[in-house]
Amino acid sequence: MLPGDGIGAEVMPHVLRVLEATHVDKLDIEFNEGDIGGVAIDRHGVPLPEVTLDEARASDAVLLGSVGGPTWDHLPMDQRPEKGLLGLRHGLDCFANLRPATTFPALVHASSLKQELVENLDILIVRELTGGIYFGEPRGEETIDGVRRAFNTDVYDETEVRRIAKVAFDLARTRQGRVCSVDKANVLEVTALWRNIVEEVHADFRDVELSHMYVDNAGMQLVRQPRQFDVIVTGNMFGDILSDVAAMLTGSLGMLPSGSLNADSVGIYEPVHGSAPDIAGSGVANPLATILSGAMMCRYSLGAPEVAAQIERAVGRALSQGFRTQDIAPRSSHREVRLVGTESMANAVITAMRPAYDLW
Ligand code: IPM
Ligand code: MG
Repeated sequence: MLPGDGIGAEVMPHVLRVLEATHVDKLDIEFNEGDIGGVAIDRHGVPLPEVTLDEARASDAVLLGSVGGPTWDHLPMDQRPEKGLLGLRHGLDCFANLRPATTFPALVHASSLKQELVENLDILIVRELTGGIYFGEPRGEETIDGVRRAFNTDVYDETEVRRIAKVAFDLARTRQGRVCSVDKANVLEVTALWRNIVEEVHADFRDVELSHMYVDNAGMQLVRQPRQFDVIVTGNMFGDILSDVAAMLTGSLGMLPSGSLNADSVGIYEPVHGSAPDIAGSGVANPLATILSGAMMCRYSLGAPEVAAQIERAVGRALSQGFRTQDIAPRSSHREVRLVGTESMANAVITAMRPAYDLW
């Protein structure tokens, strides 16, 4: 468990309470806690201490809060809290980042899009997480003849593309059976290779429907007709951007979980949202994205899909009972809405998990 900074650290104890309250006997998780991000910089001088990486490597899964905040914004790029997160993803080789964007019926009104466009939305973004421009070399900054320049390299080799494409096709088989691969193959060589390799991998998944889309069009289609998508597979940078867009379709970034898996199904589970320094410490943060990340952890790394389903059902119930944190509360006042903070929202989920509720 790596609570990290800002609302991550604030929300984590409540997420633990939810996990401990699941009433499925098989789940017997042993937790230990480590430092990452800004808090690790303060305590150990680096955003990802060796001991954190070692303990993460010795675990079946990592549940992470969030990293970063204004306190550390002045630090050079390679010493910032975000580096801790990137180092952890890379250190565990968690290349497959799963970012579901689903709407809860109780929240369709919270979306900035019309209700009829986002009802029953169920998109899964499969983002490559350990390659591409985030990690490509050479990278850096230099001054030539008094002119400052900076550069990064977007690079993928075929093994990296092949393994993420396989993950996407495999997952599509458990869903609607459609994969849309997003690239910029009309301009960038690296994504032209991406497209070719995805086509090659598709030969083993003929039962899955494959389409390709340029990233600019994908951004537009996501806000035009989001339900056309089932699984979207894309590189690190495009996935970063499109997953924020997809998140907002569901009403709030505060709702979205994510999981990042390596080849051994060890995973890092974290909310898509950041550390929200503007509200950190005031007890109002929405804990649901991290609670749902805990559910994903049960499903994908701990072999306990029934626990995952139990938590997800309880979140749905808490919402339909009217519990809302401020980020998902309707702007006009509704009598049925109960505006609550972090702790009460977690309590509502725990209450909704009680066995009696399963009779619903
Ligand atoms: C995300 C975040 C991270 C990323 C940052 C915090 C490094 O935006 O998980 O989407 O860009 O991957
Ligand atoms: Mg992001």
